[in-house]
Amino acid sequence: MNEFHRVRRLPPYVFEQVNRLKASARAAGADIIDLGMGNPDQPTPPHIVEKLVETVRREDTHGYSASRGIKGLRKAQAAYYERRFGVKLDPDTQVVATLGSKEGFANMAQAITAPGDVVLCPNPSYPIHAFGFLMAGGAIRALPAAPDEHYFRALEQAVLHSIPKPLAVVVCFPSNPTAEVADLDFYRDLISFARRNELIVLSDLAYSEIYFDGVPPPSVLQVPGAFEVAVEFTSMSKTFSMAGWRMGFAVGNERLIGALSRVKSYLDYGAFTPIQVAATAALNGPQECIAEMREVYHKRRDALVDSFARAGWDVPAPRASMFAWAPIPERFRALGSVEFSKLLIEKADLAVAPGIGFGEYGDGHVRIALVENEQRIRQAGRNLRRFLESADKTLHNVVPMAGARR
Ligand SMILES: Cc1ncc(COP(=O)(O)O)c(C=O)c1O
Repeated sequence: MNEFHRVRRLPPYVFEQVNRLKASARAAGADIIDLGMGNPDQPTPPHIVEKLVETVRREDTHGYSASRGIKGLRKAQAAYYERRFGVKLDPDTQVVATLGSKEGFANMAQAITAPGDVVLCPNPSYPIHAFGFLMAGGAIRALPAAPDEHYFRALEQAVLHSIPKPLAVVVCFPSNPTAEVADLDFYRDLISFARRNELIVLSDLAYSEIYFDGVPPPSVLQVPGAFEVAVEFTSMSKTFSMAGWRMGFAVGNERLIGALSRVKSYLDYGAFTPIQVAATAALNGPQECIAEMREVYHKRRDALVDSFARAGWDVPAPRASMFAWAPIPERFRALGSVEFSKLLIEKADLAVAPGIGFGEYGDGHVRIALVENEQRIRQAGRNLRRFLESADKTLHNVVPMAGARR
């Protein structure tokens, strides 16, 4: 039987191959260090959990909630933007709470895309950036992921040569998977370009609070005039280690926020009220837990860069996000990221995410998530060292094709 139209637009899940291998290695007793998925391993801070428990005991919190988020939650998000970015938001018209930022992004795509609309999307990128639009019937044109001068050249070309003219451009800094960051000058140029060309800007700022060089990532909405064209998505998943709670936000341009709210009003009744109340408490409450979380990732980053360098693999130190974007060592590059990732599971008990899972231009890299503790990361470094020392033999025995293709 033919696949359904939408399903046909979704390629097989690349990570599945690696996940299967990881599961069978574990079943055979291997102690796999899993730096593959970006699932935060730390618990949600206790005061937020307490608020959830307290609220769930109230009998008036069990019914349908508000699709675009309870007022207090939207006000708390507006207060966060004001304190963190100096950006003023109207909680009634410029803020919507979403079931995680991923849902918000996907439904924004549903809300604004007409069949065949062209959307400019970084490659490599977090999959929903492209697939949200593909599922909504749009077409994707790839842009470079790095926020440098090549980016704007490619952007100009894309606008010049896409028929129909692109609807929107997606940006994600700090980037998943590349961990690159953008500064306010980049956003100024982007907003000026977008206004001149009537392009919608969708900014994914899921890693707003995970940065290591003392420079907090800016918001695109800090740029004067950004509200004319831009919406930004943030997430509680990483900031407060609340990934399973499914709480995020979209904020910015009223017309776009209105479109998303309207689509959502047909699809959901909002997150469970106790989750919204606890999320409000998180945003309004003590913020030390964010600094503590940042410090944990910082130390893990240092452990990763240091122990992998000792093993002979120079991984550029990410300035932000919870990932390192590691070029595949030269002698394995011909394997591609999936085969290299499989080799790491088999020979180094280490799981990483193959770069091609984030787009074809990611195939020269793997993404390493900082989701195990420092000891485990250092253990991964030792495993790697053993593996890399015997690499020539491994390559020859395990993947004879690699030698032939080089
Ligand atoms: C760039 C980026 N955006 C969005 C998300 C999804 O976040 P949420 O849990 O808020 O849906 C992730 C999760 O890994 C991400 O890396």
